[in-house]
Amino acid sequence: MENAPIDQWFTLRWRDDALELIDQRFLPRREEYLRLKTADAVAEAIEKLVVRGAPAIGCAAAFGLVLAAKRSESLNPESFKKDLELSRKRLAQTRPTAVNLFWALERMSLIWNDKANWNLDREFIEESLLNEALEIQREDLDSCRKIGMHGVDLIPSSARVLTHCNAGGLATSGYGTALGVVRAAHSAGKLQMVLADETRPFLQGARLTAWELQRDAIPVTVITDGMAAHLMKTGEVDLVVVGADRIAKNGDVANKIGTYGLAVLARHHGIPMCVAAPRSTIDVKMATGAEIPIEERGRNEVASPFGETILPDGVAVRHPAFDVSPADLISAIVTEVGVARPPYEDSLEALMAK
Ligand code: MRU
Repeated sequence: MENAPIDQWFTLRWRDDALELIDQRFLPRREEYLRLKTADAVAEAIEKLVVRGAPAIGCAAAFGLVLAAKRSESLNPESFKKDLELSRKRLAQTRPTAVNLFWALERMSLIWNDKANWNLDREFIEESLLNEALEIQREDLDSCRKIGMHGVDLIPSSARVLTHCNAGGLATSGYGTALGVVRAAHSAGKLQMVLADETRPFLQGARLTAWELQRDAIPVTVITDGMAAHLMKTGEVDLVVVGADRIAKNGDVANKIGTYGLAVLARHHGIPMCVAAPRSTIDVKMATGAEIPIEERGRNEVASPFGETILPDGVAVRHPAFDVSPADLISAIVTEVGVARPPYEDSLEALMAK
């Protein structure tokens, strides 16, 4: 990984035959960009949370396959395809929960698996892969803006919106999903305050949501995860808006660990619990959330966050990185083509058909 000089922030971009990424491990302390030139480097960046957030992971993986094509030294179409398949497998092994990763890899692989492309030269395949990755990135940004447009109708005036993790520009090609709704509400003059859950253990809320909202002069207050219940009880939260990593056909939602707790709390306090996500996050192959694979990450992010050990040596930790909120706790799912309401089996199917 090499460093790249930069003027304005972005999550990821393709430039001069390399994928450039802001290194999200170091925000907000250091604004540092990496230039990645191989599919392996992209896979490593996804695993280490240099780039994270379901749609951004999908975009990064798509560019990873462009790099795989560019780096391949194979001289015949068969071994070229083998190289691409190997890189696809490597990228697919990085993080299991966000379906956008598999969605993007599948979409990219249609290019080299299309029999019509077999007789075409390698340059054509490389160019097609790059165009597809750029298109995935462009569509994602467009979806986020549309999610904002649809979501703004759910926001009451002077809203105090609680969010969890980072479902913002940093988690997408830009603008964000949950934070897309927040940005649209802010532009419409409806937003009083964003309450950003700190989001243990990687602190996506405290570090990333706070950073990007502050850059846009959107009012944000960070709370620790355990404070949400108290603030709901004291009437300081009007609604919850979160992103998603995978949504099952019945409307069960996998998102950052802690989201399920918020959904239960929101129901108890009569507060709407809204999810904002592009259709690429809806996995129609999964009937319910029970089928969604939940990533278990390593000990260190819990026991030694940011290099400081906070537990006695030898104490066990658990680290499921996501949880599943049952559909009956979700008030609405906002997508780029409209808002789904319960029962989700029907409403999601209708949105997927649009
Ligand atoms: O582990 P992360 O940081 O990749 O988890 C991210 C989330 O859970 C987001 O809420 C989700 O991916 C939606 S991002 C638009």
